[in-house]
Amino acid sequence: MSGNRGRLILIEGLDRTGKTTQCTLLSKDLNFEYYKFPNRETPIGKIINEYLTKNMKLSDQSIHLLFSSNRWELQKIIKNKLDAGIDCILDRYVYSGLAYSAAKNVEGMDLKWCLQPDIGLLKPDLTIFLTNDSYKDNKGFGEEIYENTQFQDSVKEKFKKIFSISFEEEEYLNYHFKNVNVTGLGIEEVNKIIVDIVSNHQLNNNEYLYY
Ligand code: TMP
Repeated sequence: MSGNRGRLILIEGLDRTGKTTQCTLLSKDLNFEYYKFPNRETPIGKIINEYLTKNMKLSDQSIHLLFSSNRWELQKIIKNKLDAGIDCILDRYVYSGLAYSAAKNVEGMDLKWCLQPDIGLLKPDLTIFLTNDSYKDNKGFGEEIYENTQFQDSVKEKFKKIFSISFEEEEYLNYHFKNVNVTGLGIEEVNKIIVDIVSNHQLNNNEYLYY
């Protein structure tokens, strides 16, 4: 690798908090390479899509491992971009994997179990977590398997837990996490906040972070 590596930035949040819109804008504004998870085009991603659209049944453990596997499918490609000095933006990643699977409250699938297959993946240099207090009013939930208010409430609780545990146990998040409450804000306003946060987040060195 010659020169500075690119930055790996993650935008996380519940369904319908505007992640994809914001990632798309950011990739245009700041020239980021954009990676959306799950990526439904890969071999594993096609199976995930069948599950999400309720065309295929899988055990909770299996689908969890497939989501992780989908991240591993893209890992080398992302690493090569970063090595080449290109900034990358992720739309969902490991924390979605943990929050959605753990929200099912299946025996044995606690957060520790859920993290295992993601160990060794690149860790983002910055995680931006979008929250929206009025997501319940949002009539826009679609037909996919996790798109209902009750399940989203459970996911929200898990996200809260994940980030509070990580703050206590992992110093890393203290410097690499920003919560942005988008309640009542328009797309442009949120974009401005995010561009500001990302522009001010510089790397201290070229070392990569890993889970
Ligand atoms: P999407 O709506 O952002 O395409 O994501 C599809 C669904 O997959 C969404 O409800 C969140 C869920 N999900 C997981 O359950 N585990 C994961 O690891 C990821 C990335 C997403």
